[in-house]
Order: sequence, then structure tokens, then C-alpha cells
Amino acid sequence: MNLITPNHLTLWPEEGQALPGHFYVNEQFYELERRGLFTDDWFFVAPVGEVGKPGDYSSIDIAGEPLLVTHAKDGVIRVLSRVCRHRHFNVIEGRGNKNSFTCPYHSWTYKSDGILIGAPMMDQVPSFDKKKCGLPSIKTEIWNGLIFCTFAADPQPLEDQLKKLGQRLDPYRLGEWEAELVFNEAIDCNWKVVVENASESYHHIGAHKDSLEAFTPAKNVRMGETGSRFSTHHLWPVNLEPGVELSGTRETGILRIPETEASVGGTTTIFPNMIIAVSAEGALLAGVFPQAHDNTVFRLWTLRHPSMPVERYKQRAGKLSAREFLEKFNGEDLVIVQGLQKALKSRFADGGTFHTTEVGLTAFYDFIKGRVF
Ligand code: FES
Ligand SMILES: [Fe+2]
Repeated sequence: MNLITPNHLTLWPEEGQALPGHFYVNEQFYELERRGLFTDDWFFVAPVGEVGKPGDYSSIDIAGEPLLVTHAKDGVIRVLSRVCRHRHFNVIEGRGNKNSFTCPYHSWTYKSDGILIGAPMMDQVPSFDKKKCGLPSIKTEIWNGLIFCTFAADPQPLEDQLKKLGQRLDPYRLGEWEAELVFNEAIDCNWKVVVENASESYHHIGAHKDSLEAFTPAKNVRMGETGSRFSTHHLWPVNLEPGVELSGTRETGILRIPETEASVGGTTTIFPNMIIAVSAEGALLAGVFPQAHDNTVFRLWTLRHPSMPVERYKQRAGKLSAREFLEKFNGEDLVIVQGLQKALKSRFADGGTFHTTEVGLTAFYDFIKGRVF
């Protein structure tokens, strides 16, 4: 079956125009994305801090594949399939700390490196070879403490595609940061709605008028560097002149960060499904995991370098604690993204014009187009 209908191509927008609703509500287009973006190319899975200690594990379903991130005793972080090699039940759910996983169906047991160590009564089956029944390990690249995977046999190295971004993020030493999962829910919308919402801050003026707009107003947003695999925008705090370069270096524990970067930071989207907002105050990391064309698991982690003073990290936003403030603006986003999914079914959701601070979305669309068609 050819899934590329004429509609998919003829509806694709010009530069600076929004993607029509068709691409968010059409199941066939979702199948193309599953293949082009979440099978044949790199996608984000978790930060290394999600499995910081030996024995830590965390499961996640991404575009139909049940995956398991593990930190085994040998110190290696792996992404495994968590589909049992016996009759395909998921060997584990959720997150925690264990050195082995016993499948609930017939009790086959795997070590956290994927090796099968127990298969009850299977010694009665002469043809059975335990060594051939480990959990498959998925091709993984860890870039700046961020774990990416692909099912492609011979992918273009991710690092090559993120070099320019590394120049900006390297001083943060993100691979050393601790991660706390603060939000993890399935939401009723297409995955792109979530990525796009987190990739622009023009919406502070509407959706976050009672929260983020007071600190990082839409009028202070400036586009940063954008590449074929990422886009960046900077949010100048309300008390700074947008775009002005600050001199000096900020020392935060053992980190040495250029002052402009430390004060302003930036929100970077690594296509297809990860967004990180980082500054010297800490970082907020988002992972967007498609479940169906209209259902998405959204995870948020707060990140902190161990040398960073906790007080600075827990800075208060008005009368609210940092956590309450995060819950407030994230709740505002959830109302928008789920409401938007319903509206995208309309025949009139046929594309609109971006503000200059939304043009990173065109880079996102180019990325998708290049891999889906
Ligand atoms: S399906 Fe896992 S032990 Fe049978
Ligand atoms: Fe938002």
C-alpha cells in the first residue's frame, strides 16, 4: 500500500507557514513518521540521569516499540527491547532499581545487560539455546548526557549533526547533571503539537500571560542558531535588554559558562522529539513520545549539576516554589495542546503565518519532510 497520498505532498506548507491540520489527525501520515523518524533515524529516549545508578531502569514505549533503558553493573547504559524472547510479553513496566527482570508470564529472567539467565523447565527442550535469547540491544548514541536511539542499520552519526549545538552546550557538561522526572503522562494530541508548542515562546503572550510572560515575555524572544537537526530560541529575562551581549563568565560550582549564556540560556529543540531549556539556573528537559496519531507520552525532567547550589536551582518564581511554578505553566500548555488537537480536525485548519520567533518550526517541518517523503 502506498501511504503517500497526493494530499500529503500538496498540502505541505511554504516556509513561514504552519502545517495544516491534516498532518496531525491523519493516521496514514503518522505511519510514515513512525518509519521515517522513529525507525530509520535517531530519536530521543531519556537523559543519562534517568538511570544514574547501577541497577536503575526506566521503560518507555516509543511509536509502538516497548523499550527499556538500563544502567547495568558493568556501568554501561543500554536501551533494550523489553519484549520477552519467549512469547513477547513485556518483561517489565515503569522505573526503579533492579539487577534482573523476570517476565510475569512464564518467569524467564534477564539481567540488566539483556542476557537471559533463567528459563524455567526449558532444559527439557533440546533445541533451546539460552544464549540466543537475550533482549535485543538497540543502537544508541549518548550526546551531552542525552540518550538517542535508532533502528537504522547504518545511520549517519548523530554527533556530526549536532556539532554546532555542542559548541554552545559543552560548557554546561550536561552529561554530569542529575535528573528528576517531574511529569510523565499520556496526553490526547499528536506528538508534533507538543514539540512545536515547546519550540516557540511567542505563546507566552497568550497561554502563559499569568505565568511565564511576567519573567520571559514574548517581546524579549530572539531566534538563536538553527541547524538541520535543531532549532534554538533565547528568552531574555524581563530585566535585560533583548539581544545585548554580557561580558564575563559565570562560575557555578565547577561550571564556567559565558555570562550571556548563563543569564539568558536558550531553548533548543533537537528534532524530532526533545526540547531542553538550559541556563546557569538549571535545565528543564522534555521528551515527546508518540503512542498513536492522537496520543503522546510527555515527560519532563528537571536537571541540575551536582556542583550547582540547590538554593539557586530552587529559585522562587513569585510566591510559588519552582515546582509549583512549573506545574502551573505546564498545566497551561496541556490545555493548549489538547484543545489544539481537536481544532486541527477542522477543514479550516489549513495553515497560518508564523511570527519571526516561530520560524524554528519551519526547520522542524523541513526535517520531517526530508525523512518522510
Ligand atoms: S512471555 Fe515472557 S516468559 Fe513467556
Ligand atoms: Fe508553553
